Amino acid sequence: MRSAGLTGSLGSLRFMGGPTVFCMFPRSSIEGRLVRDALDSMDDSLDLIFSGSPGAASVGSAVVVGDLSSLTALAGGGVEPAALVPVLPAADATGLAAALLEDPGVVWALAPPLDLMKVRAALRHAVRWVRLTGEARTMSERLGRRLQSGKEPSPTERMFEGLAGAAVAEIESRDPATAGHSARVAFLSVELAEAIGAARRGPFADVRISREEIRELHYAALLHDVGKIALPGSLLAKCERPRADLPDVERLEIEAHVERTRRFLARIPWVAGLSGVPAIAYAHHERLDGSGYPRGLKGLEIPLLSRAMTICDIFDAATSRDRPDRRAVSAERALAILRDEVKDGKLDGDILQVFVEARVFERLAARARQPGAGSMS
Ligand SMILES: [Fe+2]
Ligand SMILES: [Fe+2]
Repeated sequence: MRSAGLTGSLGSLRFMGGPTVFCMFPRSSIEGRLVRDALDSMDDSLDLIFSGSPGAASVGSAVVVGDLSSLTALAGGGVEPAALVPVLPAADATGLAAALLEDPGVVWALAPPLDLMKVRAALRHAVRWVRLTGEARTMSERLGRRLQSGKEPSPTERMFEGLAGAAVAEIESRDPATAGHSARVAFLSVELAEAIGAARRGPFADVRISREEIRELHYAALLHDVGKIALPGSLLAKCERPRADLPDVERLEIEAHVERTRRFLARIPWVAGLSGVPAIAYAHHERLDGSGYPRGLKGLEIPLLSRAMTICDIFDAATSRDRPDRRAVSAERALAILRDEVKDGKLDGDILQVFVEARVFERLAARARQPGAGSMS
C-alpha cells in the first residue's frame, strides 16, 4: 500500500512487497517534491520515507535518493542499501563518472536540472533493480531448500531458470538488437565447455569439467550482462560499438555493468555446486593481455570457463546484431575477428581452436532449425 509522504519510525517499519524509497532531501525541498511526485505518477506500490536513512534491517530492499555526501556517509556507516540514486551537484560528466565508479550500488545518477521525467526514470530503474535482485534471492533459497531435502530439484530450478530468463529478457527488450543474446551465449558456452572437457588430445587432454561446473557456466552466461539493467536504453544500443567511439562518461557507464552483474549475483545465496557463478560472470570482459576490465586480469588469472564464455559472447554479438548503422557479420567474418584478437594476445587461442574444430559456432544455427528452438535448456 502506498504511504507517500510518511515520516516514519524506521525501527518499526514493515517491508511488504516492493522496495521502500528513502529520500534524504527534506519533503519541502525541490528534490523531495520531485521524488514524491515521481512516485505518485508510477503505478508501483512503494513506501516513501523522508529525511530518514535506512537502518541495517532494511538494506536488502531500500532505494535511497540523496546527495553524494549523504550517500557516502551511509556507506561509511556500514549501511548498504540495495540501490543508490545520487543527485549530483552540477551537470558535469566527471562527477557522474566518478559517482558511477565509486559504488556499484549506484544504479542511476541524477544531474541537474532535475525534472519529473528524469527522477521518475531513475526511480523506475532503481525499483526494478531491487525487485529483480530480491526475487532472484527468494528463488535460489527455495531451490537450496529443495536440494537439501533430497527431493527432485527440477521444478524449482526451472522456476529459477525462468526468473533469470525473464529478468534478462526484460533488459534485452529495451534494445531489440540484443534480444536473446544471453540465452545464446549460455547455449554456446555450455557446448564449448563440453567440447573442451571431451578433448582427449591437445592442451585440454587432461582437463575435466564437471556437471556442476557446466551448470555454473550456464547460469553465469545467462546472467553475465544482467548489470545492464541500470543502463539507459540509449546506451544499451551502444554497448557493442568500438569503445573508442564513445565519450569517457558513456564508456565508463557501460563498463560498470560488469561490477553490477557481480553485485547482483553476489546477492543470490547460490547453493553448493553453484557458488562459482559470480566469479565466472565477473571475468567476462577480461582479456589475456590485461587490457580488459574491470580488474585487468591477465592470462590464467582469468578462469577457464570465463575465457570460453568471452569467445561465445564476442561471436554472438558480432553475428546477431543487425542495426541500421551496423550489419551483423557472417560466422566466417566473426571467426576472423576472433582470430585477430588471439593474435593480439587478448583471447585464448587454444579455446578458439576447440570452438572452431568442434564446430561449436555452427550449433546455434542448427538449434534454431530444431522444433521448439528458443527455449532455454
Ligand atoms: Fe558484458
Ligand atoms: Fe554479452
